[in-house]
Amino acid sequence: MEVKNVVVLGAGLMGVGLAQVFAGAEDIQVTVRSRKVHDEPYAPIIKNLDLLIANDALTEAAKEGVLSRISFTDDLAAAVKDADFIIECVPEVMEIKQDTFAELEPLTQDDTIYATNTSVMSPTEIALKCKHPERVVGTHFWNPPFLIPLVEIVKAEKTDNEVVEITMDLLRKVGKKPVKCQKDVPGFIANRLQHAIWREALSMVENGIADPATVDEALKYGPGLRWPHLGIFENADMTGLDLALNIHTYIFPYLESAKAPSKLLKEHVEKGELGFKTGKGYQTWTQEQIDHSNQSLREYLIRVTKDLK
Ligand SMILES: NC(=O)c1ccc[n+]([C@@H]2O[C@H](COP(=O)([O-])OP(=O)(O)OC[C@H]3O[C@@H](n4cnc5c(N)ncnc54)[C@H](O)[C@@H]3O)[C@@H](O)[C@H]2O)c1
Repeated sequence: MEVKNVVVLGAGLMGVGLAQVFAGAEDIQVTVRSRKVHDEPYAPIIKNLDLLIANDALTEAAKEGVLSRISFTDDLAAAVKDADFIIECVPEVMEIKQDTFAELEPLTQDDTIYATNTSVMSPTEIALKCKHPERVVGTHFWNPPFLIPLVEIVKAEKTDNEVVEITMDLLRKVGKKPVKCQKDVPGFIANRLQHAIWREALSMVENGIADPATVDEALKYGPGLRWPHLGIFENADMTGLDLALNIHTYIFPYLESAKAPSKLLKEHVEKGELGFKTGKGYQTWTQEQIDHSNQSLREYLIRVTKDLK
């Protein structure tokens, strides 16, 4: 199946970002369905596209093309009637996601693919109320979706292999880097890696080995520099598996293996220190620093992803 008609359910942060991604292909029309269409639905997409233009990563003509291929509606039945591929970006609440897909079944074609952008929930469980769970697949995008190439394609228990392959092809076509997660496991692939590092980072702070800013520096100016270019397994092959075995034998007993969130993290949350949201987390943040951090991350991502292509 060639996907030409994509529907995004939900017009929040991820929904509009995904609309922009799919509309990057000249032969794909995107409909964003939300229960209420906002006054200026294109505004966040225009802001993203203008940032790309300002950083020489997009032309004005391409911007107009993307915008022309996106429409917004509150009419669910009309939006999904001829859809090839529907992706839900509704809140991370199991019941909402399950009902969203179950409600679609009588309204769509027999071969329409239902993709879920859940961050952590099981696509198998999300498909439980569907009569055709074989067409439900996990597609975990990362924020900001127009800049992060990775999309984890999660094969749920009953997902048809063809559905996985069509989804992989579609994402490659719109310039993403899809990776297949063969099992429906919590955290899929990349969040398992990310949170394993997070657990160790918090443990080091709790144990007085280094403060949060120092841990961040050690990551940013050391292994973090390699990772966009050199994965863990390629790195092991480069340095030698015998060396890796010696190091793991020595160091693994000392690494954090807690099964619950860190005490330090819970203490910050209890004090209302939530990070950028409240101006204080592990560090204190002014609004100017917050704006700078958000903006410089986006500009950095534009630079590095240009080289990745
Ligand atoms: N924000 C992120 O960084 C991120 C990253 C990856 C995946 N996700 C996942 O993407 C999904 C959407 O996240 P978001 O950040 O865009 O959320 P959001 O809150 O910005 O948007 C949610 C959208 O769902 C709509 N909505 C609210 N209640 C609804 C209901 N009962 N039925 C249907 N629609 C409803 C809202 O109006 C809004 O348009 C979540 O599953 C989230 O876990 C988020």
